[in-house]
Amino acid sequence: MKKIFIETYGCQMNVADSELVAGIITDTNHQITDDINSADVIIFNTCSVRQHAEDRVLGRIANESSRKKNKPGLKIGVIGCMAQRLGETLLNNKAIDFVVGVDQYSTLPDIIDNLDEHDHYFTEVNNSEIYEGLYPIRQNQLNAFVTIMRGCNNFCSYCIVPYTRGRERSRPLPEIIREISDAGNKGFKDITLLGQNVNSYKWQDYSFPELLKEANSIDSIRRIRFVTSHPKDLSDKLIDTMASSDKVCEHIHLAMQSGDDDVLKRMNRGYSAEHYYNLTEKLRAEMPEIAITTDIIAGFPGETENQFLNTYRYMEMIEFDYAFTFKYSPRTGTKAADFINQIPEEIRLERLQRLIELQEKITLKKYQEQIGKIKEIYVEGISKKSEDEVSGKSRDFKITVFPGDKTLIGSFVKVKITDATGWTLRGERTDIA
Ligand code: 5AD
Ligand code: SF4
Repeated sequence: MKKIFIETYGCQMNVADSELVAGIITDTNHQITDDINSADVIIFNTCSVRQHAEDRVLGRIANESSRKKNKPGLKIGVIGCMAQRLGETLLNNKAIDFVVGVDQYSTLPDIIDNLDEHDHYFTEVNNSEIYEGLYPIRQNQLNAFVTIMRGCNNFCSYCIVPYTRGRERSRPLPEIIREISDAGNKGFKDITLLGQNVNSYKWQDYSFPELLKEANSIDSIRRIRFVTSHPKDLSDKLIDTMASSDKVCEHIHLAMQSGDDDVLKRMNRGYSAEHYYNLTEKLRAEMPEIAITTDIIAGFPGETENQFLNTYRYMEMIEFDYAFTFKYSPRTGTKAADFINQIPEEIRLERLQRLIELQEKITLKKYQEQIGKIKEIYVEGISKKSEDEVSGKSRDFKITVFPGDKTLIGSFVKVKITDATGWTLRGERTDIA
């Protein structure tokens, strides 16, 4: 019996995959631990989306490998997107004992049984792997991530994901519904459906709106979210379904990436800036309380100052509740990495900085608009800053802090918003609905 510690980087898909890996490992005689000091095996579930994400993990591995001096039997493994991207070459790093790609997690128990013999790597892409019949062990008791599809067919020119995670495939609807119901029966009230592009979910005659409707009819859950949506596939039918499904929260994460048509074209995004803008208008017309969050890349190859300003202006116009802004990072093997006119680092950084400053102002304004409103908060824990306060999320995905104790964790509470700072609302309990 070995104790396994898993450290997770990257997107929510990786968080869900770590829970799946925990499930696969626990099905054998091994055990998951949340104490790295007692671990016999440390697994890093990694992200390749930007170079920075990879560098961070390599730094962490170098650090943790010093434990091997005092604990010679300790083994370190790399799984996830970096394992898929770099494969066997990772084993040149003496700190790393095994490498397992995103479609090979079923090999993990066997690898762990045989770690003392030699190094291992299994990174073959299997474009049909959906881990049927395997279930996650969830890390918290409140929010359940449910993977509805794996892989991606979009090939945005900057993105490594189609290469690391392979082709798009959807899980059977009955399995997904069973997993959501099970989670609900165990007390998880907040479900997030996960996929690289949930809008292209397809199983038999079911597409994503039908899946949402089915999920909405499950009594034991209270909130449904989903990530991530692609603007080219966000249909009117889906917007209508969101609006008419009471459990589907008023929040959508819809990556714009750029507000310039030429850049969007070279990114291979399949929509114009105006199309994106119209989608936000439609969403807000049908769901006035909806929060819209986005991803933006600054300094894509060939982006001129004027093209950058188009993005800036769309962000001013749309007023996202929050924007994840990134400096373009070339990923070997993607089309954009070979584009001429790569933008110098200092310009990418300077543009990123301008986007961050703009969005900070917009987010503050959006949050201040919430003052005076009464919001339903799902209490998720004690506030990090004060023992006398609890913290949770509103339906429109805003962290909200208010006076309370741990008995409230897991419950839904009406809170009147009294203040707003950068990304946090503050308020007080109210019994008025
Ligand atoms: N450089 C910078 N940002 C990237 N993203 C994806 N690939 C890259 C890249 N090469 C961003 C996109 C995506 C988010 C998850 O990461 O904005 O939506
Ligand atoms: Fe997630 Fe993409 Fe990072 Fe892989 S590369 S962990 S899919 S964000």
